[in-house]
Amino acid sequence: MTRRLTIAIDGPAASGKGTAARMLAQKLDYAYIDTGAMYRAVGLLARQSGLDCFDGGAVGALAARLRFAFHWDGDHLRIFVDGRDLTGAIRAEAAGQDASAVATLPAVRAALLDQQRALAQDGGVVMDGRDIGTVVLPQADLKVYLDASPRERARRRTDELRRRGGSADLDQVFSEISARDHQDRTRATAPLRQADDAILLDTTGLPPSAVLTRLLALVQARLAAS
Ligand code: DC
Repeated sequence: MTRRLTIAIDGPAASGKGTAARMLAQKLDYAYIDTGAMYRAVGLLARQSGLDCFDGGAVGALAARLRFAFHWDGDHLRIFVDGRDLTGAIRAEAAGQDASAVATLPAVRAALLDQQRALAQDGGVVMDGRDIGTVVLPQADLKVYLDASPRERARRRTDELRRRGGSADLDQVFSEISARDHQDRTRATAPLRQADDAILLDTTGLPPSAVLTRLLALVQARLAAS
């Protein structure tokens, strides 16, 4: 039987990692764990509960109580938190900013780390985020760091928000994701960075199908080497 790998995909906002990780997981028939969705859910629920997104004690306690599950719905991955489907609600850019804020809190990261590792424990998993190759799954069989030029990332996110029916201004989205990347890269705990043993894949100008082809080639090479 073919070995089922543990695959870590990291990268900055709108680098294409969500689409790439989802397509790769579907192609391989692996589980897909979107850790950004977990931070987004914590941010959303913190805000709905009237908490300050930088209040470590309160938001950490909230995160520790939550139970996360992912389920496929056709081609889409849905996230359930304590049984509630939060898939649509977490996608607004404001939820991304709240996610980035709560993600600076060590208590929140510790609460999600255990659940993320538990979700990956059986292998046959693609997990994407900011610290998967460096902190969550340092022993992953394959680590990829996806990046793209800041302008292209802003364009992708603007298109995505418009497709979802929202109005999005390119320059505003550009400054929002730049600020978020800065916060994600400079926080003290588990900042966004390429793991030393991760393969860098620049997706600027590449359609999702081409990114998938390259990822599949990396998977084949990894399987052949083991
Ligand atoms: O990938 P995303 O845009 O859905 O992630 C939202 C925020 O969550 C991101 O700005 C930082 C945080 N995050 C994190 O700190 N660590 C992860 N593994 C995933 C996301």
